Amino acid sequence: MKILITAGPTREPIDPVRFLSNRSSGRMGYALAHAFVKQQHQVLLISGPTSLDVPHHVDYLPVESAQDMHDAVAHALPRVDIAIFCAAVADYTPVEVATQKIKKSDEFITITLKKTIDILGSARSVHGFTGYLVGFAAETEDLETNARTKLLAKKCDMIIANDVSQSSIGFDSHENEVLIVEAEENTKLPRDSKEHLAHHLAAIILKRFDRKRGGVS
Ligand code: CTP
Repeated sequence: MKILITAGPTREPIDPVRFLSNRSSGRMGYALAHAFVKQQHQVLLISGPTSLDVPHHVDYLPVESAQDMHDAVAHALPRVDIAIFCAAVADYTPVEVATQKIKKSDEFITITLKKTIDILGSARSVHGFTGYLVGFAAETEDLETNARTKLLAKKCDMIIANDVSQSSIGFDSHENEVLIVEAEENTKLPRDSKEHLAHHLAAIILKRFDRKRGGVS
């Protein structure tokens, strides 16, 4: 199977030396990439900057901004069976990028931001992706309701939701605890290392992909 995984944060440039980003470590996406290659699947990992080692036998495409990640994904989507969007993509990016380093002057400065492209949201509606589509949802409240809204809005087969209000799981931590939300069911995977969770998630995604491909509901 050919599998695309996005991972890590994006960096939205402000000037040549500064950017906006977030606390995503990339661990969940890299653990998933590792879990799929271990089962002899072909993985393309499109990742924002992280401090992680790229798992062996994974095709790796480094990107920086949300726009870069979008362009790389759009190019790869027609060739994959399963696409998993783990990346913590910036929702907003500066309207203008200063060509020179912004000098310290006024007491307050304002940076105007504009919405980035929703990469996952455009997979089906803009790029016509017909494979198995998995999104993540980082939530601080109403986990299931918000995840289900994203499942429908972004036309996903599955949303893997995690509660990012708990600092011991999710963002920038080694453990996670997720709720898998699909059209007909929810499945809770209890707290575990991201590596163990990745193996469970990979097995479930492959099973669901087979079911979808076989046309069995
Ligand atoms: N995502 C994406 N492109 C974006 C924003 C998000 O591909 N510009 C993807 C993420 O990789 C994830 C899913 O959309 O798979 C949900 O991301 P999340 O940050 O939870 O939700 P948002 O759509 O950004 O909505 P909000 O921040 O309002 O919850």
